[in-house]
Amino acid sequence: MIRKKGQFIRLDTVNTTMVLDAEAAEYLYYGSKLNAGWEFGMYAGAGRKMLSAPGKAEYLDYSVVLENADGGFAADFVYSKSKVLVEKPEIAGLPSSYGEGKTLELKYVDAPTKVALYLYYTVFEDSDVIAVSAKIFNGSRKEIRLRRLASLQLDLPGDGYEVVTFEGSWGRECQYVSRVHGGGIFINDSKRGMSSHTRNPFVIAKGGQGVYGFNLVYSGNHKETFDSERGGLTRALVGMNDFMFDWRLAAGEEFASPEAVVCYAPDEDALSGRMHAFVSEHIIRGKWKRRERPVLVNNWEGTYFNFNSEKILAMAESAKEAGAELFVLDDGWFGKRDNDACSLGDWYDNVEKTGGGLAELADKIRKIGLSFGIWVEPEMISEDSDLYRSHPNFAMKIPGRTPTRMRHQLMLNMADEKVQNYVIRVISDVISRSDAAYVKWDFNRSMTDCYGKGIVAGEYFHRYMLGYYRVVSKIVKKFPFVLFEGCASGGGRFDLGNLCYFPQYWTSDDTDARERISIQRGTAYGYPQSAIAAHVSACPNHQTGNTNSLRTRFAVCCGGVLGYELDTTKFTPEETEEVKEQIAFYKQNRKLLQFGEQYRLEGAGIEGFMTVAKDKNTAIAGVFLMERHTFGPLPTVRFKGLNAGVSYEVSVWGQEGSFRANGDLLMNGDFPLADLFDFETAVKNSGGVMSRMYIFKKVKA
Ligand code: DGJ
Repeated sequence: MIRKKGQFIRLDTVNTTMVLDAEAAEYLYYGSKLNAGWEFGMYAGAGRKMLSAPGKAEYLDYSVVLENADGGFAADFVYSKSKVLVEKPEIAGLPSSYGEGKTLELKYVDAPTKVALYLYYTVFEDSDVIAVSAKIFNGSRKEIRLRRLASLQLDLPGDGYEVVTFEGSWGRECQYVSRVHGGGIFINDSKRGMSSHTRNPFVIAKGGQGVYGFNLVYSGNHKETFDSERGGLTRALVGMNDFMFDWRLAAGEEFASPEAVVCYAPDEDALSGRMHAFVSEHIIRGKWKRRERPVLVNNWEGTYFNFNSEKILAMAESAKEAGAELFVLDDGWFGKRDNDACSLGDWYDNVEKTGGGLAELADKIRKIGLSFGIWVEPEMISEDSDLYRSHPNFAMKIPGRTPTRMRHQLMLNMADEKVQNYVIRVISDVISRSDAAYVKWDFNRSMTDCYGKGIVAGEYFHRYMLGYYRVVSKIVKKFPFVLFEGCASGGGRFDLGNLCYFPQYWTSDDTDARERISIQRGTAYGYPQSAIAAHVSACPNHQTGNTNSLRTRFAVCCGGVLGYELDTTKFTPEETEEVKEQIAFYKQNRKLLQFGEQYRLEGAGIEGFMTVAKDKNTAIAGVFLMERHTFGPLPTVRFKGLNAGVSYEVSVWGQEGSFRANGDLLMNGDFPLADLFDFETAVKNSGGVMSRMYIFKKVKA
């Protein structure tokens, strides 16, 4: 809800309140919900600003940096007016959140230049999230240069915040990293032209008064800055990265930032719950928003490039027998792609490998009783491709320089409309001719040789993103029934921008159950499990060599959207039976597992997740014993999210018997996991992770 009284504006959600002094462009309060009231006068003047620009005696990092036509960088944005918009305005060319929320528009003007800065605050009451963006309008008569435009500036009271980031690398995404911000500047960013494996845009600032979560609805370079001066305040800036950014704005033109989101919560568990609700309700859209996601089998780790139609059909048969619903044909089905050094861009069928073409193979898979899914990597080009030979100018490279190759490939210059149209045409054709029900949109390198003829160098990164979003939005709109899964060598572009188009995302190329626990745990801090694709793969694991039981590999995937990525024809009869049981269990509980409220579980040597139905009548917990030490502490766990006042029947999946306990005991007592360790299984799986799944059912009164 948005209410105004004089210069004060209240933004209320179900559990939080933000109070702004619009005229002073200051935050007076942001935290737990306040009772109705307007006595904010004494809180004014603390100096926690909503915007900042050079030219004043104020030296924390700035939200807006303009190079004005007068040759200076100074800007003094003074309050002009505010209004409440009933319809949330779209951000031209960019994805953004959607839904019921009302939007506050605030206008500030720099009088000497007549440049205006607009700030937008959309209040999503149901999920306690506020989406914030900024826009610059050049009201002067000359061109100006925009050097930085943060989407959100939030000055937090005091300093010494614990800043949590989700960092990693290929195959090790979203590791929880925390440090105390003891002053100075801390930056979490990406300069790779993608949101990146290295630093996800989701960040948390933890203070004595609660936690703040920040994210950005953008898939390109981002930057989250925390700047503080001792004893003062801590400035949080969230937005596109201003690295190599220099945007020309002619008289009368405007530039809109992507949308940042911010959420206050009393603790990390509540923050994750609110972010999950927000992403599920206001980011993910389309036919698959709340629809149960199919259990798939993907051939990548089963065959890599080495397959033919007989192999694929045999895999599909065994996948069907085990209970899978969708078969995904991954990389290698097009051009002459038998390895990763060629053919990107040649999106026509390799007739030999597909046994007569994609349409025929897809039909055969459908006849087996599975729907068909296809892999593409639309933004890339191999130098060894017909596309490159006929259109070398489609590639992103700087004239006269040898381009940097990654995975032997170059990128397409998606900032060019001709290239965009080409991609829309050929990728649409792949989807139409195979009648695919699912598309995996991959992206396997970072940007290096940013250049497009006629494009200002400082505008390139963002123009690429605008081009990418144009292409992906057109394709997704054309195929509303198709389930799109994003991928960037795993979770390299797992971000809110992409989730506006792709309801789910491939979380990591590391499919080892042990590694996945921390990768999925980190990812689920900011993103709901319905977006987290998780596949059971072969043992020993191809990335780490670790061994884990089939039971553990499956239990880990129950924390996300289940798939299998291994050669299903190699299952022993026992394995086939086990996988059948797994898939049947998953399907039976899929609604709960994919769309329930998910919590993190922990204990000495224990990790886990717990997914609870909205009405709290049923829940499933996956508990994992990571290490076993002789004379180590007795592993225990406290379950979460249950109804404290009711009794539950608790059973272990795959085991006889059950016990009863009250919700409050299950949540507050240290539940002993004494017999979770089993020596025989440990030896068989070289000390792999031990797992157990608990099922909770409310006892009917
Ligand atoms: C990277 C992806 O993350 C993998 O799952 C697989 O699709 C390969 N690309 C194919 O090249």
